Amino acid sequence: MTTNGESHATGAVTRSRRIERILAGTATSDGAGVRLTRVVNQQLQRRLDPFLMLDAFGSVNPDDYIAGFPDHPHRGFETVTYMIAGRMLHRDSAGHEGLLENGGVQWMTAGRGVIHSEIPQQQDGVMEGFQLWLNLPASEKMCEPWYRDFSVDELPRTVTPAGVEVTVIAGESHGVTGAVTREATLPLYLDLRFSDQAQFSQPLPAQHTAFVYVYRGELSIGGEKVPNQRMAILANDSEADGVVIEGTKDTRALLIAGRPLNEPIAQYGPFVMNTEQEIYQALSDMRAGRLA
Ligand code: CO
Repeated sequence: MTTNGESHATGAVTRSRRIERILAGTATSDGAGVRLTRVVNQQLQRRLDPFLMLDAFGSVNPDDYIAGFPDHPHRGFETVTYMIAGRMLHRDSAGHEGLLENGGVQWMTAGRGVIHSEIPQQQDGVMEGFQLWLNLPASEKMCEPWYRDFSVDELPRTVTPAGVEVTVIAGESHGVTGAVTREATLPLYLDLRFSDQAQFSQPLPAQHTAFVYVYRGELSIGGEKVPNQRMAILANDSEADGVVIEGTKDTRALLIAGRPLNEPIAQYGPFVMNTEQEIYQALSDMRAGRLA
């Protein structure tokens, strides 16, 4: 590798990050009783800045998901919902409505506030997906809400020379720019699908937070295995210029990275601000009907 430009063009990585820690999520329920696995929780927010939460939901039993997430508020961050299988209807107080299905992504910037609902639109079958919470910098927490649905066909996708299929939800990979870019946090959100034993390389700035979540099969990084349904936090090794992931037949995993905000985090349920005072303000705005 001679230049940065070249590394981005080819995806070449000369030295891979190593795994700092492997974690299993916690089984919990949210909304009106949707059973899910919380992969990134509040205790990891500092380490995984700018990411606040990652939930994985997956079930073939409608009782686990059918009640969905009725009307609830958000303020101060963004939610990214990626539906692998199943259909979810979204409605919010800004007047947006969209059906998220099979492979689609919904990106919602709550900004100063939205009230929304997320309700499954199926009576049976598999429901599987992820919801990631991405923080906003202090200067953007009170921005206008924004919302966009991307169907599976609208999501940028590429296949590397090694045969790894990459859906680029955010950021840039192998010359493909993702569906969404964000200046403050520069999020990278990739869904990797291996069809055979292969390596996948992704350049990453050394100071960016990065983690991998495996949801089919297994993979390895630096010779260390990451089993199915485990998250691996990637160490911020200043000598490393990216990550090299080795997958096998049927491995599927998310690779998520971003630039830390290094700002105070004050969270109360669906509100994520910088100070307690701003949380009280969010609560009083909600009670006064000023959130929507
Ligand atoms: Co929500």
